[in-house]
Amino acid sequence: MAAVDLIIFGASGDLSARKLFPALFQLERLNLLQKDLRIAAVARTKQTLDEFLPVLKGKMASYMGDDAPSDDEWASFTQRFSYVAVNFSEPDEYGELREWLDDERVSLFYFATPPSLFAPICEHLSTTNCLAGDCRIVVEKPIGENLESSINVNEALSRYFDEKAIYRIDHYLGKETVQNLLVLRFANSFINSQWDNTCIDHVQITVGEMVGIEGRWSYYDKVGQLRDMVQNHLMQLMCLVAMEPPNSLEAESIRDEKVKIVRALRRIDSQSVNEKVVRGQYINGWIRGTAVPGYLDEDGCEMDSSDTETYIAIKAHIDNWRWSGVPFYLRTGKRLPEKVTEIVIQYKSLPHNIFGNGANIPNKLVIRLQPNEGIELSMVSKKQSLKERMSLQSHLLDLDFREGSDLDRIPDAYERLFLDAIQGDQSLFVGREEIEESWRWCDQLIEACKEQQVPALPYQAGAWGPAKAEVLIEKDFRSWHV
Ligand code: BG6
Repeated sequence: MAAVDLIIFGASGDLSARKLFPALFQLERLNLLQKDLRIAAVARTKQTLDEFLPVLKGKMASYMGDDAPSDDEWASFTQRFSYVAVNFSEPDEYGELREWLDDERVSLFYFATPPSLFAPICEHLSTTNCLAGDCRIVVEKPIGENLESSINVNEALSRYFDEKAIYRIDHYLGKETVQNLLVLRFANSFINSQWDNTCIDHVQITVGEMVGIEGRWSYYDKVGQLRDMVQNHLMQLMCLVAMEPPNSLEAESIRDEKVKIVRALRRIDSQSVNEKVVRGQYINGWIRGTAVPGYLDEDGCEMDSSDTETYIAIKAHIDNWRWSGVPFYLRTGKRLPEKVTEIVIQYKSLPHNIFGNGANIPNKLVIRLQPNEGIELSMVSKKQSLKERMSLQSHLLDLDFREGSDLDRIPDAYERLFLDAIQGDQSLFVGREEIEESWRWCDQLIEACKEQQVPALPYQAGAWGPAKAEVLIEKDFRSWHV
């Protein structure tokens, strides 16, 4: 494999300290980084490496707790580092970076910056001849805030990089359990053969968060939970659940199948939006015994009212052969009672019940992505009893992914994604078409909500969203899993 250098723009930002450097450090600890991989931390502040590193170390220690690097580990990890000060919008300031780059090696540029800077940084890298060697680029979401702006971002990137060199991160794809979804579906014949509308009644995807908006009011209020979570993370999960088997694990193959699902998603327009979408916004309440403020009382809020949703539930349909008649219920929200990501596959009831009252308990497969990563399958069995002739009960087959792991922890998504980007494997990164198709669907839904003035209903922090979200599913004689 070619030698790789990693150049992180936005190295002194929050994402870098919270996720990127800790992930790189964990890879170093596991001996998974190439011996000669160099890291350039690029940020605006004019300072030396010796000034940059202690600040980074302090921030990492606060995020990593007991897992933080020891002094020896830190000394060896930071041997790889250089610090390069660049004002990103000033082409004259790229000279030092040009000096640092080595065109004999692969340059992996990581943009941990606001998306508005992607295009200017690419342009300045190009005009200052920093893209002369073999280059790749990694970009973070959001890629745009609607279809039009996502096309603009993608166009700007494609002016300088081939699609094969663009790595768009959706960190959910790097989660171990999300990858396990592929294995569950395509390496287990009994699951694969029962994966369609003949056996499955409906699918639920829940991404619940206990946190609020974490000091990001001005960003979040323009975006809301649909753009922040559904357009990317929930859409990716739905695609992995619903797609046809790809013919290989190559990026192209997987992306082709995913994009077909997004295209087959039934549009939600102003005729159907009231029946299919529930929006909510948290008011003050309690999470695990701690009082938390409402959305409009969060730090940074200077408004008396806002229509931004912090919760959304959607009933979606995929109009294709496999999923015809199988609703996908999606829900995600901030300040919910639990941090949980799970996919529930609810199987159909049996056509005829020979065991008597209450015995027709349909199977349910719960794929837990976080926490307690694993799979639970509810099965029906006979209660061991001589007194009761045929009393049935539901049992759980519980597979805990942490058992049998070669690590004593579940790796963070960024560890996998860094490894793959360094090795040039794009299969867990998102393709341009998927993003644009997903925006097309979300834009229409947003437009329909506006036209019909679908309100963001208040829900108390610590509750599972507004009561109407229960109605969304219960009117179909179904219920949310938790
Ligand atoms: C990010 C969103 O993409 O994902 C955040 O911008 C959200 O608002 C976060 O909190 C959730 O990620 P995770 O990995 O904690 O589920």
